[in-house]
Amino acid sequence: MQSDRLKSICHFGQKERAMSDKRFEGVLGDEYELFKLALPYYDELEETIGRAVREHSAGLTASSIVVVEGGCGTGLTTRQLLQADPRVHVLAIDNEPIMLVQTCDNVKDEWNRIEFRRRDLLMVLRELQTGSMDVFASGYLIHNLTPQYRRDLYAEISRVLKPGGLFVNGDKCVRDDPVSQVEDYRMTIAAYDIYDTIGRSDYKAEWIEHYEEDELVRFTEAEQRGLLSANGFSDVRLVKRFGMDSVMTAMKA
Ligand SMILES: C[S@@+](CC[C@H](N)C(=O)[O-])C[C@H]1O[C@@H](n2cnc3c(N)ncnc32)[C@H](O)[C@@H]1O
Repeated sequence: MQSDRLKSICHFGQKERAMSDKRFEGVLGDEYELFKLALPYYDELEETIGRAVREHSAGLTASSIVVVEGGCGTGLTTRQLLQADPRVHVLAIDNEPIMLVQTCDNVKDEWNRIEFRRRDLLMVLRELQTGSMDVFASGYLIHNLTPQYRRDLYAEISRVLKPGGLFVNGDKCVRDDPVSQVEDYRMTIAAYDIYDTIGRSDYKAEWIEHYEEDELVRFTEAEQRGLLSANGFSDVRLVKRFGMDSVMTAMKA
């Protein structure tokens, strides 16, 4: 029964594969969790996202709390969202088959609280009703998107959130000070040497290429603050910084 549901949610045809952005199609997607060796704070960052949702949920009286999650990937963030409050239901969106299969597998004990969409995030958000969601959450998604896509995305997130709704994003969102950013970058890349010691220089090479591409569309703290302010969010907070990565929250006014 469960395996039939897994197949129906996670079976991807050629057309859906062709629509995915391919950044997580190969070894990075297949072995995403190996990533934690280079980022020892990864779990803490994910827990920080979960804590923000827990604290927000504590102030809500509704019997159901709807969280829309962009780029659910392996399901590590999804799990934090589900654990935040038993009333949470997650609309989990990802356009990459190889990643969505991992979410399905990692949270299969909670399927009654999850709805999956294997589609582009903006396309899904555009179909949601204005003011219908309690929370928007994502982990390590937004920095992958182009600056124009980010602008469209923050406008849509603002539209779909209820007044007082929570935005939380744990992401590669770098410091504005270029000197500190260069030092963070140097230290982050150096941490990938660990893969040479376990015979996985191929994995290191793929991630370094990914980092180099991210530098071309670098997502900064100032950009994120600006997008939130421009789209009607208040109480914008940098909850925690971990080198190049950070968790930021804001409230829909
Ligand atoms: C780094 S992973 C997310 C990791 C995830 N938070 C976790 O805990 O494992 C980023 C995810 O965003 C997805 N993604 C990238 N662009 C997207 C888009 N435009 N629409 C939907 N998903 C997208 C990728 O397929 C990938 O699974």
